[in-house]
Formats: sequence, structure tokens, C-alpha cells
Amino acid sequence: MSKSNHKEHGNIHMDQLQQKKADLMYRQEEPIRREQCVLFVDDEISVLEGLRLALHQAKFHKLFAASAAEGLEILSSTHVDIVVADEQMPTMTGSEFLYNVHRLYPGIIRLVLSGQASKERVIEAINSGQIQRFLTKPVDSETLLDVLNQYLSQIRLHQTKRALLVRSETLGRWEWDILDGTFTWNAGFERIMHFAPKCPNRDIHQFFGTVFPEDRQVLEDSIHNCKNTGQFQEFSHRISLPDGSERWITQVLDVFRDQDRTWKMIGIMRDDTDHKEKETLLAERMFILEQTMEKTVEALARMTEIRDPYTAGHQARVARLSREIGKILGLAPERLLGLEIAAKLHDIGKISIPSQILTKPGRLSEPELAMIRQHPLTGFQIIHDIPFCSPVSDIVLQHHERIDGSGYPNGLKKNEIMLEARIIAVADVFEAMSSFRPYRTGLGRDVALGELISYKGKTFDPEVVEAFEELLSMNPEIVQDNVI
Ligand SMILES: [Fe+2]
Repeated sequence: MSKSNHKEHGNIHMDQLQQKKADLMYRQEEPIRREQCVLFVDDEISVLEGLRLALHQAKFHKLFAASAAEGLEILSSTHVDIVVADEQMPTMTGSEFLYNVHRLYPGIIRLVLSGQASKERVIEAINSGQIQRFLTKPVDSETLLDVLNQYLSQIRLHQTKRALLVRSETLGRWEWDILDGTFTWNAGFERIMHFAPKCPNRDIHQFFGTVFPEDRQVLEDSIHNCKNTGQFQEFSHRISLPDGSERWITQVLDVFRDQDRTWKMIGIMRDDTDHKEKETLLAERMFILEQTMEKTVEALARMTEIRDPYTAGHQARVARLSREIGKILGLAPERLLGLEIAAKLHDIGKISIPSQILTKPGRLSEPELAMIRQHPLTGFQIIHDIPFCSPVSDIVLQHHERIDGSGYPNGLKKNEIMLEARIIAVADVFEAMSSFRPYRTGLGRDVALGELISYKGKTFDPEVVEAFEELLSMNPEIVQDNVI
């Protein structure tokens, strides 16, 4: 290409440079998602401009070169699907150029656009493999677009098929002809099973022999169901490899039926060992985290009870009652867990109250009562940064609120109080009344329940009290140990 041509078509050249960069990026992406590209080579600038205008709405990317040399330069760094070349070019004819393209990049579709094409020349060019098609100038844009789109569709289909083939080879596939016992498999199966390629004398029973004895029943049941119902089956099992290692395999089985006779079974399998190992590791970590949380909650609860030995076990018993009431009221598992944790920690704020006040046998003074009334807020402040599965700290804050607004610390009413806090309020009062305290003996189950019922709808949520009554009638033993 001459310098003057470069100048005249600086915009074309800049487009090319930018596209080279873009196309190199495309190369690293999934092949079938790459934008398709057509390169036009013609020494007549007006022809290139005409093509650019005529094809500006075409969905493929267009590159333009004003000489065969420039065309080869573009091809050296850019992925192109089709090259359309003018036959009459000064330094190299279109056929010669496309011969080089064929030699260097045999996968590219090559078209010649020529004003003069003898029948013999066309036959010779096509037969020698230089080009796929001759187009005679002038060609209208509709015809050219039609031809290009046909080739691009074929290329895309071919790329899609090739990508699917590559992907399917990562899966193992086996086929078992049930009538004559023939067992065949693909390369993916060999990789998964560590079979030597084309290893003869393998049969279905040798394959099944690699399955862990504990998992054979799953395999047998799946084959039986697949054969009898004609429905595909998906299942997982372990296998032992020749080197003694074990792998997790997920299989899908299907059968082909000839009228009523089952004659061929096909298995598609994938090695899920890495996935299973990650799952196991995750489950182990989750178990450790749950254990850590449970033990931490218990440790926090014990700290509270060390200050006030008369209430030892109180929070655990309130937690048990609260959970059962929550179940009757239909709380979801996650809310039940939050309720149980909140109940186990509901008095944690008492850690800030001197033990002589907590264990004082006589009446408390007003300042002492004020200090006691501070414990829900202190409890909230201690735990509100812990990321529990539900708002445990808010429940702790509200466990002394009463539905008539007579509670503390905020005098909330009715539904302003969280259901979990209303449940703990009932369980807490019942448990405290029925158990021994420094200032009184345990009042017993019936007195405590009678007290709750007398305040049902006044200070306690009536639905919660009724759920508690239901719990006691269904499971009276649940409070037997509580009454001292
Ligand atoms: Fe409390």
C-alpha cells in the first residue's frame, strides 16, 4: 500500500488498528461468542468506500485493506472469517492473494470479486482450492450480503458444533447394548475411569465392579428403574480407581427402547470429586461455626448465672419453653433459632448488676430497681454487634416490655413488641414464678400458670399464653423439672 493511500484512507487504517486490538481480545473469549469478521481487499478506494456504505448495517464486523500486502498484515494479527478480494490488483492478483491466504489460514472462506471472469478461470480457481466462490462485479449489496450471511451462518454452526463436541468430551459417556452385551465408551469416560485408551475386553460388569460396595444398591436401583420406566435417572456414587484413590461420580442414565424391548442403556457421567470435597469442607466449616456459636452463647449465659446462682439454669429452661411455644405459633426454623438464642441470653445484661442486689432477699430500693430495669438495655449493648441469624439483641431489649405499655425500658405496646419478646416474657415469668428465689419459695406450676392466665390480654399476649397452655396440656412433663 502506498503512503498516499494510507493518507487518503487514514480512517480505514485507524479502524483496523483499533479492531486488531479488539479482535485479539475476542480471541481469548469463547470462540462461538466472538463477533464475526469479513475483510475486503481492493485497490480501488471508491469500491471500498462503496462496500462500507452498502454494508454499514450488516451485523458482522468489517475490515478494509487497499492492497494484498495490507490484507496479509491484517490477517497476521486479526481473526477473520471471510476474505473478499478484488481480482485485478496491481502487485498481486486477487487469486494469488487468496492462494496465500489459503496456504497460511486454510480455515478462512475466500471469495473473489471480479469485473472480468472467464469460465475457465473460475473453474480453475475453485478446483485448485484457492477460492470458494466467484462474484461478478458489479454485485448489488443485497446479493453480497446474502452470500456473506450464508457463509457466516455455516461458520457459526461449525464453531458451535465444535465447541459442543469439545465440551461433551469432558463428560464421560458409555453405551451398553443390553441384547449383545457390547460396552463402548468415549475418551471422557477413559479419563474419568483411568481406563487405557481403546482398552479391549472391558464390559459393563467390570465398570460396575469399580463402584463402592456401599453405593452399588443405588446403581442397581437406578438401572432397574431406568429399564422398567424408561425414565432417565440421575444419581451419585463413588468409584475406586486402579491406583486405589476414590472419586465421586454423578451419572445420568437413559434407555433407548425398541417397542417393548429395552435394548440400549446410555450413561453420561461427570467426576464430581472436587465439588463433593468442597461441599464436605464447607459442611465441616459450617458445623464448626455452628458449634462455636452455640458454645459461645452457652458460655455467655453461664457468665450471667455465675453472678446469680439462684437463677442457674433459668435461661436454658426459658429457652426450651420459648422454643416450644414458638413451634406451636408456627415460627419458621430460622426465627425459632433466633428465639432460642435470645432466650438463652435474655438476662445477660444482669452481668452489670452487683450480685448482692441480684441475690438480695428483701425488697429492693428504688435505685436498686432502676439498676435492675437497666439490664435489657445492657444486654442489647453487649450482643448487638454479633451477626446472629435474626435480631437477637432487639428481642433481648424487649423481653420486659408488656403489651399494655407497663413494661420497660421503652414502654412499648402490643405489636410494637416483637413476637419473640412476647414469647420470652411469658416463658420467663412462668419459669421465675415457679422456681425458688432468695425472696420466696417456688410458687409451683399451677400458681404460676394461674398468674399468667389472669394477666392474659392485659400484660401478656393472649395468643402466646394460649399457646403455652396448649403446650402444657400436650406435654405436661416439659415443666416438671422446673418447679422447685
Ligand atoms: Fe430479664
